[in-house]
Amino acid sequence: MQLGIGTAPGKVILFGEHAVVYGRPALAAPVVQVHARAVVEDRPAGSGLVIDALDLRRSIVLAQTGHPLALVTRLALDRLGLAEPDWRVSVRSTIPIASGLGSGAAVSAAVVRGLSQAAGVDLGPAEVDAIVYEVERLHHGTPSGVDNTVIAYGQPVYFVRGTPPQPFAIARPFTIAIGDTGKASPTKIAVGDVRSAWERDRERYEALFDRVAGVVGSARAAITQGRPEELGPLMDENQALLREIGVSSPELERLIAAARDAGATGAKLSGGGRGGNMIALVTPETAVAVAGSLRAAGAVRVIVTEVGRAGGDDA
Ligand code: PMV
Repeated sequence: MQLGIGTAPGKVILFGEHAVVYGRPALAAPVVQVHARAVVEDRPAGSGLVIDALDLRRSIVLAQTGHPLALVTRLALDRLGLAEPDWRVSVRSTIPIASGLGSGAAVSAAVVRGLSQAAGVDLGPAEVDAIVYEVERLHHGTPSGVDNTVIAYGQPVYFVRGTPPQPFAIARPFTIAIGDTGKASPTKIAVGDVRSAWERDRERYEALFDRVAGVVGSARAAITQGRPEELGPLMDENQALLREIGVSSPELERLIAAARDAGATGAKLSGGGRGGNMIALVTPETAVAVAGSLRAAGAVRVIVTEVGRAGGDDA
């Protein structure tokens, strides 16, 4: 019998990645075209709990404490005051792994929500957020917390590490194309490389992060005051800084150029960089051409999504 079901969207960082690890603000939004889902069912008495990762064709038990799925389940059960119920947790996700769309955090959030529904407890976003953050620490080492926050709250957020998330109003929805380079790039490695570079030349990196913060501030104003067309040049500016920070790659640059050639008014990498996804500012009129150009330039997946309004098309 089905006892509970939990879902969580993907996410995209619009502005501010990497600098956000160093206390500067970032803007991020949910991507509802992709999602993770966890279904909790009962099992025969005494059989314990098993987690079926259906995409990976793997079953995980609670004792595998180093596994993120076992860890998130353990943390959620502790919060719910349960030892080991006789449950099966089946997990599925359409969010590409290690590509900057928050797959790990979304899977964790779906599991926490499924388990809490099965237990008859209504955990609010702040509690889901706190549990998912613990798991993210296992993946990333020193995550800023932006991924778990936007996914747990399910709405666009202005995020500053260590402060309560600030959901922000989008005065006029805008459309972005998200292009996946197909090159998996673990965030932990990119974040670690930036850390080493920062240690070698703090002054230069702090100045770059300050300039990113300036871009994020301008983007927030443009979004909340209904001038989304300003976001294109701001994306270009943020991308130039990310390049200097050292996290772009030839694959990302190729997709960014392809999007610009097809009419996008700005584009940048999104997330950890080096591979993974890029985003481009489009309009309903240019979206199809930009999506086609991204695919022709090697994107393995393109999602066109409207930020500020639920729904959209998987192009
Ligand atoms: O690669 P993603 O989407 O998980 O994003 C990482 C964002 C960084 O700012 C690079 C790291 C962080 O913890 O915020």
